[in-house]
Amino acid sequence: MKRVKQYLKAIKSRVFEEDYKFLLKILNEKELEYFNRLPEFEKRHALDTCYYIIEKYGVEDEDLIKAALFHDIGKIKAPLTVHKKVLAVVLERFPFIAMHLKKYVWFLKVYYDHPKYSRDICREMGCNERVVYFVEHHHDKEVSDEGLKRLQEADKMS
Ligand SMILES: [Fe+2]
Ligand SMILES: [Fe+2]
Repeated sequence: MKRVKQYLKAIKSRVFEEDYKFLLKILNEKELEYFNRLPEFEKRHALDTCYYIIEKYGVEDEDLIKAALFHDIGKIKAPLTVHKKVLAVVLERFPFIAMHLKKYVWFLKVYYDHPKYSRDICREMGCNERVVYFVEHHHDKEVSDEGLKRLQEADKMS
């Protein structure tokens, strides 16, 4: 049921003028250009992750806010349609098959390894190493860094 809700949310998701006004305030030109390469539903997810952090933890941690916006930016290496994403998410339940297929299917490789691509892109954009650390490890298990825990919480809730 959770998957169905996620799917419906994804196909209905939109980015509004208010969101772009917000982005213009906090991103430089290069960052904005990268952000705009995400498909609409990924932009929505990134913004929601970012807003969750701001609402719950405030605006002090700028690295965390930036990491929230760019944690999934690696996915631009192989832009997913909602349907491809559904396939990738379902396949995740069968790790053996998924790990085998990702050798041959580029979008699956990008989907499963996106934290590494996000790390590379954040470095390319000139983000500091703390932002790079957050995005690279946002799917790690059993993390101890408080900022990373917050990012994972916000990601899950968005
Ligand atoms: Fe992710
Ligand atoms: Fe995410």
